[in-house]
Amino acid sequence: MIHLGDPNPYGRAARTTTFRALRLLSAGEFRSGEALASSLGVSRTSVWNALRGLEKVGVTLLRLHGRGYRLAAPIDWLDPAQLRRHLGVQAETYELQVVEMVESTNTTLLEQAVGGAAGGLMLAAELQTRGRGRRGRAWYAGLGGALTFSVLWRFDQGAGFLSGLGLAVGVALVRALRGLGLKEAMLKWPNDLVVRHHKIAGTLVEIQGDVLGPSLAVVGVGINFRLDPSTRQNIDQAVTDLVTEGGPHDRNRVLGQILVHLAQVVDAFRAHGFGPLRSEWDSYHVHAGRPVTVRLPDGAREEGTAAGVGEDGALLLQTRAGLRRFHSGEVSLRAADEGIRRSASPL
Ligand code: BTN
Repeated sequence: MIHLGDPNPYGRAARTTTFRALRLLSAGEFRSGEALASSLGVSRTSVWNALRGLEKVGVTLLRLHGRGYRLAAPIDWLDPAQLRRHLGVQAETYELQVVEMVESTNTTLLEQAVGGAAGGLMLAAELQTRGRGRRGRAWYAGLGGALTFSVLWRFDQGAGFLSGLGLAVGVALVRALRGLGLKEAMLKWPNDLVVRHHKIAGTLVEIQGDVLGPSLAVVGVGINFRLDPSTRQNIDQAVTDLVTEGGPHDRNRVLGQILVHLAQVVDAFRAHGFGPLRSEWDSYHVHAGRPVTVRLPDGAREEGTAAGVGEDGALLLQTRAGLRRFHSGEVSLRAADEGIRRSASPL
């Protein structure tokens, strides 16, 4: 869990001041504590309080005696108006909500879905304080250093129809990232995006509904945009980020492109399911035809050769005992291949 400017005696007010002060500092120039205080209509102590502890959320603030505060890396804030421009004709698919801080965009959208929110509602957060990953893990991302958002989609079909949706979302993400210049973006089953085996994005798809329909899915996406040292420390796997991989620095453009591809893929999925997207998914599969180990949730392991995915999104594994299908588990390259991968990896 991330604490922003915590512990402090001012609570919510200090957090609001934090974001307002950060926006004033976004131009990238030094601003004195006094100038910030007067622009914000608060005391210098409040400014000082609001701006402490930021390194915990991945923001490096330079403090120079006599000059004041400056952000080491400017924050490119998300903005619904800019996003809408990048969406083009897909703008009408979405209702866009951007918030500064939320526990988890998935959790919030699931709550809003229960309250009757319409499909196409997109919630992006500058900072999640309890971001959730797959299999109960936490998802860490620094303020302004990631894209963390969720979209609520509603379907007439039953929840079973949605079993391949997570993989379809992966196809949309690869299309978007490759279109933005990340030509080596690949998929790792079930729905990690990797570049040269380093994770750049993950998705958390949460489904609710009746067997016969209707149903809904909250599609949560977390993309490493510009990883800061403090966030990296929390992550226990090989990771990379969009800026390191030569992608655009404009977060609104990247999110816009992703939403365009997501809307197209969800449209196709709604009409025909995952089947028609399956061969494209296979073409992006980083483990295609490679010897892998699947670690199952109960700790058991299965070895075999990755043989694509089924129409329901299951991983197909060619084992000595024949073709097996997996609906959950963690896939890794087997040891001999792992050695090759490590020596080929520049990171
Ligand atoms: C994973 O790789 O384990 C999935 C990560 C999904 C993270 C995203 S960030 C936006 C949305 N809200 C969450 O709490 N999780 C997802």
